[in-house]
Amino acid sequence: MDVSVRLRFLSEPDMVKAGVMDMEGCLEAVSDSFALIAKGDYLMGGPSENDHGHLIWFPPAPRGPRMPVAGPDRRFMAMIAYLGGDYHICGEKWYGSNIANRELGLPRSIHSIILNDPDNVKPLAFMSGNLLSQMRTGAVPGVATKYLARSGAETLGIIGAGMVGKTALLGIATAIKTLKRVYVYDVFESASEKFVQYAEKEIGIEAVIVHNMEDAVKDMDIVHIAASGEKLPAIDTNQLKKGALLCLTGAAEFVNDDWIGDCSIYADNWKLHQAFIHEMDYPREGIREEILSWAPSAPVIDAVYQGKLSGDTIKSVGDVIIGNAPARENPDDTIIFITSGMAVEDVAWGKKILDRANKENIGQILSFWDKQYWLK
Ligand SMILES: NC(=O)c1ccc[n+]([C@@H]2O[C@H](COP(=O)([O-])OP(=O)(O)OC[C@H]3O[C@@H](n4cnc5c(N)ncnc54)[C@H](O)[C@@H]3O)[C@@H](O)[C@H]2O)c1
Repeated sequence: MDVSVRLRFLSEPDMVKAGVMDMEGCLEAVSDSFALIAKGDYLMGGPSENDHGHLIWFPPAPRGPRMPVAGPDRRFMAMIAYLGGDYHICGEKWYGSNIANRELGLPRSIHSIILNDPDNVKPLAFMSGNLLSQMRTGAVPGVATKYLARSGAETLGIIGAGMVGKTALLGIATAIKTLKRVYVYDVFESASEKFVQYAEKEIGIEAVIVHNMEDAVKDMDIVHIAASGEKLPAIDTNQLKKGALLCLTGAAEFVNDDWIGDCSIYADNWKLHQAFIHEMDYPREGIREEILSWAPSAPVIDAVYQGKLSGDTIKSVGDVIIGNAPARENPDDTIIFITSGMAVEDVAWGKKILDRANKENIGQILSFWDKQYWLK
């Protein structure tokens, strides 16, 4: 037995070299992770085995001289998973998020990925995680679109022109070849302008800036929301075109409850959202509001929490992929897809990248020990 512990360190340029920006490969990894969830061959954290992650909530007032305080999209999160099948890997994504970072010239969130051998528990890799996380986040609406968008979908409305908005466009345009035009709405015109450049130059999709949210919602075959700011986007689902697919990748509000009954709901993994609902009863002041302030599935989980909607009607995409649940049944159905992001997606794409890096010897090998101190 090799008792040394050596792991592969992959910087962001190494991740690019190893293919992290390959959306076709990422769609496959995310789709595999959904199918493994549906087969039960996975574990995530917490007693539910489906927790999104372990969160550091900063309090409204500091309790120590340097303790950070609550702010929009401000958190640290540890997301852990085992993924089975051919992946057979354990891992964690650890990240911090603070929208004030934008003023420092830093991304809103900074991610690290650690992968471990599930049997001898050795760490295998430490990876720069931003691109990996953004790609898997964009692949999720891509997979959802493949199964849930109306056939021949041509138009996409993007609300929030940030990193996730861009990779969502890449995921959707890679998953369905019928997409013709994207309409983008962001509170900052400069963000929309950068998005248009990305869409047209990098992906080759015609992109149009719109100046109010309604224009990115009405007449769209697919609408994608991933906005991060002081005020959540507020959507009137009555403005959605019949047969539209609305992907909630980032938090949003619904201006009324008309969507209940009017729309079918699909989730990346409904059990994970149920875990949020259970957490809302934890005896901590303001916990429900905290969860609802950032969980992308907030309107849906709150409707279930309040008894306005039965969770039994909500299907998970993995069940669709393995044939245990129907995909879109009618071209006129309006579908809402909720996703919070899951550690299984990070470790799935991470494992594929690590395999490529191992094969091509990309990155650096770092050593913990040849033989552990107490075992010498
Ligand atoms: N579901 C997941 O797996 C997942 C993963 C990563 C991020 N997210 C969520 O996606 C959101 C976006 O993340 P990002 O990394 O792209 O952030 P980002 O900071 O790169 O971009 C967010 C964009 O949203 C815009 N915006 C803010 N409020 C808006 C509004 N009301 N209407 C329209 N645009 C608005 C901002 O101007 C900015 O351009 C975050 O809320 C994050 O929590 C979800």
